[in-house]
Amino acid sequence: MTKKLLFLLDTDPVPSVFDTVVGYDGGADHVVGYGGVTPANVGALVDGAIYTRGPKEKQFTAIFVGGGDMTAGEALFKAVKKRFFSNFRVSAMLDSNGSNTTAAAGVALLAKAKPLAGKKAVVLAGTGPVGMRAAAMLHIEGAEVAITSRELARAKASAAAIQERFGFTPTAIEAADSAGRAQAVKGAQVVFAAGAIGVTLLDEKDWQNDPTIELIADCNAQPLLGIGGIEATDKAKERHGKIVIGALGLGGLKLKLHRECVGKLFESADQVFDAENIYAQAKALA
Ligand SMILES: NC(=O)c1ccc[n+]([C@@H]2O[C@H](COP(=O)([O-])OP(=O)(O)OC[C@H]3O[C@@H](n4cnc5c(N)ncnc54)[C@H](OP(=O)(O)O)[C@@H]3O)[C@@H](O)[C@H]2O)c1
Repeated sequence: MTKKLLFLLDTDPVPSVFDTVVGYDGGADHVVGYGGVTPANVGALVDGAIYTRGPKEKQFTAIFVGGGDMTAGEALFKAVKKRFFSNFRVSAMLDSNGSNTTAAAGVALLAKAKPLAGKKAVVLAGTGPVGMRAAAMLHIEGAEVAITSRELARAKASAAAIQERFGFTPTAIEAADSAGRAQAVKGAQVVFAAGAIGVTLLDEKDWQNDPTIELIADCNAQPLLGIGGIEATDKAKERHGKIVIGALGLGGLKLKLHRECVGKLFESADQVFDAENIYAQAKALA
């Protein structure tokens, strides 16, 4: 039986333990991680994946691109795909810091709770991998999207990267602190919190009586949670008349989705899992 090999190409210096574990749980027989991978040094790694097995066995080799930097991950993923030609290719997935799978799980659960088309959505701390992908998926659902950052220049840089990849520009908002973020969500119906681990972005008092907010999702599972007044385990729970989803509430779907996508990589040699089809997969599982 040909072994299923998953090559984890990480833009960070050390390959992710999380992605390694989920690689095995998704069905790989071996997960081999490389850190510090860049477009400049990835060529030989891709060549090793595409030239070693015959047409019938190639589907059992796959590439997973990860790491903490979405823009670096996108550039690396592009370089990987560029190296493929004819049937010298293997299936590949991009999920920098769980960006696609986490955002897809959160947005799919929000969309399951209520239609998002035409709604104003604010992605708090939308400059990280998860936030940038959440912005794109909210746009796919037809929402009008804004992203916040503590610094306007970072929000604008992420908005430009989203424009480059997805062809739309979210509104870039500077929100330096909790007061700024409370101001940023005024008039929005959807709030998606994508801040760094352990950072509270919005206090309960800033959303509980808000007249427009209908849906809230928070990705940060480690106390302090990203949104005050929400439990991590909330999954489409009603609080103060709003539907809220906590990080563990969406985390189950995220893990299921991540495993499922890894499993699918080994079904043929020509699959590409990035935002659009990972999101489609999330909608099917939600
Ligand atoms: N639930 C799940 O299954 C799951 C899976 C994966 C990830 N996650 C979580 O999803 C969240 C987002 O992940 P990520 O990798 O995209 O995050 P990240 O890159 O570490 O951080 C996202 C943004 O948070 C902002 N930030 C950092 N420190 C801050 C502070 N002290 N105060 C306010 N804002 C701050 C930064 O934005 P600016 O510098 O631009 O302000 C940063 O770009 C994390 O909490 C992660 O743990 C959850």
